[in-house]
Amino acid sequence: MEKIRVLNSGYITLKKIHDDRDGNLIIAEGSKDIPFEIKRVYYINNLENSISVRGLHAHKNCQQVIFCINGSFTLGLDDGHQKQKILMNKDNVGVFLGKMLWHTMEDFSSGCVLMVLASDLYDESDYIRNYDDFLIRIKNGDSSF
Ligand code: TYD
Repeated sequence: MEKIRVLNSGYITLKKIHDDRDGNLIIAEGSKDIPFEIKRVYYINNLENSISVRGLHAHKNCQQVIFCINGSFTLGLDDGHQKQKILMNKDNVGVFLGKMLWHTMEDFSSGCVLMVLASDLYDESDYIRNYDDFLIRIKNGDSSF
């Protein structure tokens, strides 16, 4: 696994119980495996358009952990200083998306399913969807690292 160099990120590995031929059981406990109380869970499937790019935003406050629970995709991370691409293809290894971390999801395999655990309820005003605005905020130290 490639080392994560960007700020405010890192891998989170969940316990995986292999039930021989009866499948896998993977567990995420809030405030324990996940470094916050989980307030929201969302998942993304039906990624039929393999050239689609999702994400393209950062959050002012919301923290998230993103998983690829089936298939694979490429996660792009950008803390305003460093950029990095990570291959997401392990069902029990997620990536922490801290505050003020621009992220993208792309190169989805067929059957890819993403699951995201979030620290806050959905709030559009927490999103930064303009990249120049993101860079200005980083430059001005408008982050809570
Ligand atoms: P968005 O976060 O932009 O998706 P992605 O980052 O995966 O590309 O959300 C897409 C749309 O869904 C947008 O109109 C907002 C809406 N949405 C909710 O209503 N609640 C949520 O919890 C999320 C994540 C999105």
